[in-house]
Amino acid sequence: MSKQFDVLVIGGGPGGYVAAIRAAQLGFNTACCESNPYADPKGEPRLGGTCLNVGCIPSKALLHTSHLFEEAGHAFADQGISVGTPKIDVPKMIARKADIVTKLTSGIKGLFKKNKVTSLNGHGAFVGKEGDLWKVKVGAEEVLAKQVIVATGSKARHLPGIAVDNQIVCDNIGALDINAVPKKLAIIGAGVIGLEMGSVWRRLGSEVTVLEAMPDFLAAADADLAKEALKLLTKQGLSINMGVKIGEVKATKKGVSIAYTDKDGKDTKLDADRLIVSVGRVPNTDGLNAEAVGLKLNERGMVEVDGHCKTNLPGVWAIGDVVRGPMLAHKAMEEAVMVAEIMAGQAGHCNFDTIPYVIYTAPEMAWVGKTEQQLKAEGVAYKAGKIPFLANGRALGMGAPEGFVKMLACAKTDRILGVHIIGAGASDLVAEAVVAMEFGGASEDLARICHAHPTLSEVMHEAALACDKRPLHF
Ligand code: FAD
Ligand code: NAI
Repeated sequence: MSKQFDVLVIGGGPGGYVAAIRAAQLGFNTACCESNPYADPKGEPRLGGTCLNVGCIPSKALLHTSHLFEEAGHAFADQGISVGTPKIDVPKMIARKADIVTKLTSGIKGLFKKNKVTSLNGHGAFVGKEGDLWKVKVGAEEVLAKQVIVATGSKARHLPGIAVDNQIVCDNIGALDINAVPKKLAIIGAGVIGLEMGSVWRRLGSEVTVLEAMPDFLAAADADLAKEALKLLTKQGLSINMGVKIGEVKATKKGVSIAYTDKDGKDTKLDADRLIVSVGRVPNTDGLNAEAVGLKLNERGMVEVDGHCKTNLPGVWAIGDVVRGPMLAHKAMEEAVMVAEIMAGQAGHCNFDTIPYVIYTAPEMAWVGKTEQQLKAEGVAYKAGKIPFLANGRALGMGAPEGFVKMLACAKTDRILGVHIIGAGASDLVAEAVVAMEFGGASEDLARICHAHPTLSEVMHEAALACDKRPLHF
């Protein structure tokens, strides 16, 4: 007889595992199946998805190590610390990263046990309906469930004619496992992965060239922030080339050769030891048997959902990277909780207007809400308060004077509409802006809140004061 559950989650990434845990907490008999593409030492389903295995967590571990390496090589001396020339043991750095991944992925197994979520090992594919229940093939067995949550995530988009072997030509998977510092590293795509991984290897000594198709750098970010980011990253040594058209990519004796046309139409060739292709991601919907059961996909292959992640099929939901919206782990987790709570009859909700974005370069970039160019395009009257980190004692003490906080508030109501940060600690600072915006806060609210001194959060405070043209320290 087939195993039967109230809820079956397909995919064990941050969307799927959080949905399973929350559904179980709410009293549903829940299972989560994972098709396990990442090697698990015990051959068990390796949970955590892209985020834990080949995304957020390993990339941040490498960013941290490479940041320390750069500090030791360049910043320590400014503060009177001499340590000689630092050396990097890349295999040790990679092993440390792998250890963190193993700890966290096994941690999810523990959370499943604690919350009584059944973990199923195998690829999930819809079979059809049996009465009111959905029948899903998981590996070799068939499982029945009243409700199904599709959380199958995404994989790297590859470019036609550029074969990824994850040795010389890497997507995110190989890029996180490079075992020696490449002398020359080429990156196609100046998006989030390109900038984060480019920073890692540039800090460790690679000559990094980034080739980007779009004419504008970080076009989705606030233009002021993007301009500052381009200036700082270029100064650090990343060679970022906008408006290029990639041509033939060929293997060479030493690595790879990339032909491209630059922004002025000049044909150019770049030889590199390694190439990272980071040109966005595509949803994992092949093999789900979506068409056979009539699960509607959009033209980009994503599962079509409404604002509450309901699909066109009764009792079938979809969350995370496999649906519209930013491909971010915290967005997937928010949707996961929302769906589980709606299934339990609660008022689950996800506010897509207050999802923060972070890029973990140094300095970090983070933002929430509308950009200045969006407000202009929408004809919204706004006021802006912009304060540089240079005016902050803590930032100077940390040797991190670059960047700014820019707060945008409605000219009529003073409600905060967007906050854009480039500077030390931006990933944590943005949380204050998210809270303020979630509560419909005004710049005056933040201006009248006591911020500890000396902290980086005082830059947020000053930016709020600057919205009313009354900063105290700038
Ligand atoms: P995934 O994490 O992709 O998980 C889906 C899971 O489903 C996978 O484990 C897959 O094996 C499994 N699966 C697929 N099909 C099936 C099937 N048919 N049956 C069973 N299992 C299946 N986001 C951030 O918010 N912050 C970051 O710092 C960040 N850094 C990133 C760095 C990199 C290099 C990359 C690539 C991504 C990064 N992301 C980051 C994005 C983040 O990883 C994703 O948004 C997030 O993992 C999406 O979660 P998900 O659960 O929707 O999908
Ligand atoms: P991305 O969408 O951030 O950037 C891709 C870049 O490649 C874009 O600038 C695009 O214009 C460019 N591009 C596309 N086709 C190209 C071509 N043929 N030639 C040259 N350039 C081309 O995608 P990326 O960096 O692959 O990351 C995927 C996703 O993973 C991100 O969108 C994000 O959702 C997530 N992520 C999040 C992180 C974070 O939150 N810090 C870190 C890393 C990834």
